[in-house]
Amino acid sequence: MNILILGGGGREHALAWAVMQNPKCDKLIVAPGNAGIAQIAECAALDILNGASVVNFCDENAIDFIIVGPEAPLAAGISDRLRDAGLMVFGPSKAAAQLEASKAFTKEICAAVNAPTAGYGHFTDADAARAHIKAQGAPIVVKADGLAAGKGVIVAMTVEEALAAVDDMFGGEFGAAGAEVVIEEFMEGEEASFFVLCDGADVLAIGTAQDHKRVGDGDTGPNTGGMGAYSPAPVLSDAVAELAMEQIVKPCMAEMTRRGMPYQGVLYAGLMIKEGQPRLVEYNVRFGDPECQVLMMRLGAQALDLMLACAEGRLADMQVHWAEDHALTVVMAANGYPGDYAKGSVISGLEGLTADSFHMCFHAGTARDKGQFIANGGRVLNVTARGATLAEAQARAYSMVEAIDWPGGFCRRDIGWRAL
Ligand code: AMP
Ligand code: GLY
Repeated sequence: MNILILGGGGREHALAWAVMQNPKCDKLIVAPGNAGIAQIAECAALDILNGASVVNFCDENAIDFIIVGPEAPLAAGISDRLRDAGLMVFGPSKAAAQLEASKAFTKEICAAVNAPTAGYGHFTDADAARAHIKAQGAPIVVKADGLAAGKGVIVAMTVEEALAAVDDMFGGEFGAAGAEVVIEEFMEGEEASFFVLCDGADVLAIGTAQDHKRVGDGDTGPNTGGMGAYSPAPVLSDAVAELAMEQIVKPCMAEMTRRGMPYQGVLYAGLMIKEGQPRLVEYNVRFGDPECQVLMMRLGAQALDLMLACAEGRLADMQVHWAEDHALTVVMAANGYPGDYAKGSVISGLEGLTADSFHMCFHAGTARDKGQFIANGGRVLNVTARGATLAEAQARAYSMVEAIDWPGGFCRRDIGWRAL
């Protein structure tokens, strides 16, 4: 079959890498892709937020199946447009994508089914939000309701910080995303990510992972999109995963179906785990980036079979066979990230890296210039390895990092520390 993947980051490189290993894939196009993806698949310049353009592209290229990587096209309704045109898509509808696009919506779904999560208030005016913060005290968490590229959450350690966050949000700092604000109880515990597929009726767990959000070693410095990840996440034991499935994920998915907006695609549940009890921090309606890279490393070619079964409503017949070993990815980012950074620095040493089912350097923000790879974004490379133990996967990933010559970039040196 002919397959189109929408997106151009490390997540999409990992998806493309897994899909290409499956003999069901005759042809793969990735839009827009990047310089690493271009080594294994055709890349196409396409405005992936424009439903009509994507539908036309699919017709012209006889595409049979579309996998949507990032949240923005999902929240804009790309899956609906493609399904209306009779195409098969892996990705939730616009209505179901509210689970990521609106924090208030998610809180309401959780409340309807009593899913464990932080207590909250939902506000559309600053005075009521300020009064709520003063009554609750700190620490407290202030969130812009809408999509804010991971920047719309302020974990405030003092009341003053929380009040300032409310002023910023209602003052327009986060644009339309901050027109409504959710204020949450601060949850303590260890965070981990739980990934499931849902076809509107059945739910199938496909793996666990842990991300490293802060830019610096020892989890210091500002938040980023993620500086590294590993799978599985030891804190998300089988017992905790079972609780998350029965108390949080399945009831929420059933509620979505009951409301006439069945969820179809991958659901990423961010969990806070304390004393063996999971509570929901957030849902994302896509694979995590860089969590997808470690999941694909462990799932390999069957990832395509799972995504197809999900799109066709056949999850009840599926079983997951993931590698019983560990995968770890180190993000290499441009100097300055997550603040200002330069584009265009040359990256050498990539051609000599081992590339097999135990070692892969996935590209995120890269481009090609005069035959050389250059940095073209903040997060640039995802150096990923598998091993019998997490320590082995970590050693393999960092030995690949050593072989990459990129003075314009940096990485954390401690990915995996929590589990090791
Ligand atoms: P979110 O975008 O909702 O995942 O929030 C970003 C990060 O803020 C999470 O990964 C947590 O580290 C933190 N966070 C969000 N909500 C809470 C909460 N209620 N209590 C503690 N930390 C939180
Ligand atoms: N790595 C976090 C995310 O994809 O949201």
